[in-house]
This record gives sequence, structure tokens and C-alpha cells, in this order.
Amino acid sequence: MSGAVTLNSGFSMPLLGLGTWQSKAGEVEAAVKHAIKVGYRSIDCAAIYGNETEVGAGLAQGMKETGVKREDLFITSKLWNTKHHPDDVEGACQKTLSDLGLAYLDLYLIHWPHAFRRGDDVFPKSEDGALLFETSVTPTETWLALEKLVEKGLVRSIGLSNFNSLQINDILEKGKIKPCVNQVECHPYFNQEPLRKFCEEKGIFIMAYSPLGAPQRPWATPDEPKLLEDPKLMEIAKNHGKTVAQVVLRWQIQRQVIVIPKSVNLNRIEENFSISDFTLSSENMELLASFHRADGRVVEPRVNGKSRDGHHPHYPFRDGLEF
Ligand SMILES: NC(=O)c1ccc[n+]([C@@H]2O[C@H](COP(=O)([O-])OP(=O)(O)OC[C@H]3O[C@@H](n4cnc5c(N)ncnc54)[C@H](OP(=O)(O)O)[C@@H]3O)[C@@H](O)[C@H]2O)c1
Repeated sequence: MSGAVTLNSGFSMPLLGLGTWQSKAGEVEAAVKHAIKVGYRSIDCAAIYGNETEVGAGLAQGMKETGVKREDLFITSKLWNTKHHPDDVEGACQKTLSDLGLAYLDLYLIHWPHAFRRGDDVFPKSEDGALLFETSVTPTETWLALEKLVEKGLVRSIGLSNFNSLQINDILEKGKIKPCVNQVECHPYFNQEPLRKFCEEKGIFIMAYSPLGAPQRPWATPDEPKLLEDPKLMEIAKNHGKTVAQVVLRWQIQRQVIVIPKSVNLNRIEENFSISDFTLSSENMELLASFHRADGRVVEPRVNGKSRDGHHPHYPFRDGLEF
């Protein structure tokens, strides 16, 4: 086991979990079942991944075949951008619960701070193809609706994803419940150290998405550096008899960052879990921290090379705002 942290809600959360973005319907059920068999207890899901029914089938089978109980698992899901209106939040959560076959979620996140137009079209567009935004609902108003889900017992802990420090501060000021985590892109090329320190001071954990550098992202270009092929990382991995993936995951848990690598490959699911039998020295930890690049962010919705959502008033990644 790679350890766990205690969230500010009082619940324990494993430092390592399985990601499920782009895990296809025919593959994710077996992946989740296998993950439970090899010892994963945390699974990161989202309504927008379109696979929560199959994830739920994998959870049910995994529990049945291993005897692992619901209360031993830690299941996270996320509220999509079209469901930010306070009147839509509970329904969206109930749909996720029903798809996953669960009575409660361990953690529910606002997937992005900026809302799209309400409705069942997950990417609502105008006739000219532009994405339709909803700007009248603030991220904090959506947060207050998430707090009600805790009161109703539908979710145990609540948190954020892709929020910047100003947006987090607004929630801390106006909310009753503190966010437990902020799930953001985080890997050695984009280490989020300023946001990590800021969140640590507020009692919020960083949950690292795309920890392997999201090599499967559809918009990757051949000239972009590939984290898993970085020669310096390959050297560190060789010295430990480990893979680069294992080294970058180990680096995160040693800095108390929760990490959720995605895989549907049974061998790689095991490989990513096998990170508790070695330790990175402080020199190695610092070396990995030095790989940060100002242009290291790779997960940002883009159309024709431009930020798709950058003109939304609640879009989190802003020029001139460090974190
Ligand atoms: N909140 C958000 O906005 C947000 C955004 C992105 C991601 N996420 C979450 O974070 C999770 C992880 O991020 P991600 O899926 O973007 O990327 P990732 O975990 O960095 O990388 C996943 C990719 O790496 C491959 N892979 C997995 N283990 C490997 C290994 N040991 N060696 C070589 N390749 C390996 C996977 O392929 P195989 O499946 O074939 O092994 C897959 O193509 C997501 O699945 C999702 O749950 C959240």
C-alpha cells in the first residue's frame, strides 16, 4: 500500500487511485475489477467520461470476487459544467450514483469552475459551432449546492478541480465546508508547487491528474516533450530498478500529493500500484522538482490552437495569475 491521507472532512483517502478518463466501455470494467484485485481502493470517475455504468459494473464485480466491501473503497466523481446551476446539482449527483450503483460517493468535485449552458447536451453549441457558456452562476454558488449533498448523506467529502487560488479563496470565505482537495494537472513538467503550498496552508490536498503527462491526449503534437521518455527520468528509474511511471508516481506520494494514473492495461495497472517498495532520496526529489516548465501544462481544451474556454469569466487559467 502506498499510504493514505486524512482529509479535512475527517475521512481517509488513499494516496494512489485509478483514473478512468478515456477508459473505454469495453475495457474499463475489467480494469476496475483488476485494480481492486491488486489492491487499489480509490477510483477517480466523472460523469463526462461517459463510462460510469461500466465503472460501476467493475466495482460490483471487484467487490464480489475479492470480498472487499463498499466502505473499504474510496470513490470520487465530478459534477459536469452543464450542471452548475444549484437546482441541477443534486440530480447530477443522483445520476452518477445510479450509474455507479452506489448509495454515496466518498468525494464529489466540481469538475471545472466555469459553467456551460444548462441542459442535457454536455457540449452545448450555437449554430456556428461556438460552445455556449453560462456565466450567471458563480463557482461558489455551485459549491454551496454541493454542501447540501453532504448534509443529505449523498457524498462524504467535497472538493474542487481545476480551480485557481482566487476561486478557492472565495469558497473559503463564503462556504460552510472547506474543500478537501483541488484536483489539477500535476507531473514533473508542471509540478504545481505554488498551488500545492497555497492549498497545504489551507488544509487542502492536491490531487494530481495526468500524472504520467497524459500521453494519450488527443491533441498531443510530435514536438512536445514526452515525460515517460525523459532521459534523466529514465536514468533515475534504471538506478532504482523501476520504470519512469513508477518514479513519477512515487515522487508525488512522497510530496503528499494524491495521484490517479489511468490505465486499462492489466500489467500497467499492477506496475503503477507497485511503488511502495522504494524511496526517492531528497536529491532525487529536488531533481524531479527542477523539471518544471512554464509551458508544461498539457491539459487545456483548445480549438485551432487557441484556448476553447479562455474567454469565460470563470475560466481558471489566466495570463498573469501565477496559480
Ligand atoms: N479533473 C480533470 O479535469 C481531469 C483531467 C484529466 C484527467 N483526470 C483524471 O486523471 C486521470 C489520469 O490522467 P490522464 O488519464 O489524463 O493521464 P495519465 O494517467 O497521465 O496517463 C494515462 C496514459 O498513460 C498510459 N499509461 C498508464 N500507465 C502507464 C505506464 N506504467 N507506462 C506507460 N504508459 C502508461 C495509459 O495507457 P493504458 O491505459 O493503455 O495503460 C494512458 O494512455 C484520468 O484518467 C482522470 O481520472 C482529471
